[in-house]
Amino acid sequence: MTAVPVVVLVGPMGVGKSTVGRLLAERLGVGYRDTDADIEAAEDRTIAEIFVDDGEPAFRALEKDAVRTALAGHDGVLALGGGAILDPDTRALLAGHRVVYLSMDVEEAVRRTGLNVARPLLAVNPRKQWRELMEARRHLYEEVATAVVPTDGRTPEEVAQAALDAL
Ligand code: S3P
Repeated sequence: MTAVPVVVLVGPMGVGKSTVGRLLAERLGVGYRDTDADIEAAEDRTIAEIFVDDGEPAFRALEKDAVRTALAGHDGVLALGGGAILDPDTRALLAGHRVVYLSMDVEEAVRRTGLNVARPLLAVNPRKQWRELMEARRHLYEEVATAVVPTDGRTPEEVAQAALDAL
């Protein structure tokens, strides 16, 4: 039988997909995997290096392949990079899966990641860029999600529990 993820986590960078994903996997007794790590391992470069060297479109192409491969070969918790849902093919791949959208509001996002210049999409004006990112992406997260779990003011443990309850 083909392996299928128990749950796929989507949501903006910094929302806690990897922390919550690991907790969720532990509680479910399954493995954890994330496509950013898969891409870095396959390329032997960091995501930031790929953005700088090859540009965002090249990264998105790698990401689409990584999502396709992970969806077809993993039976635990799978976290996607924050922008994976931008690609229509990637969104189509998510159909039929349990997809939990971890959400947060813009101010929470600025607080959590605002000074993290290692994230290539937020290096210039974090608040403005966050607002634009959320406006462009919120409806796409909602489109693929089978459940939405707000994270504002919650600990990763509380978010993991809410995600479990939503499965
Ligand atoms: C991105 C999110 C990052 C990573 C890349 C682009 C985005 O993943 O894939 O920097 O476009 O939102 P995380 O959400 O895991 O930080």
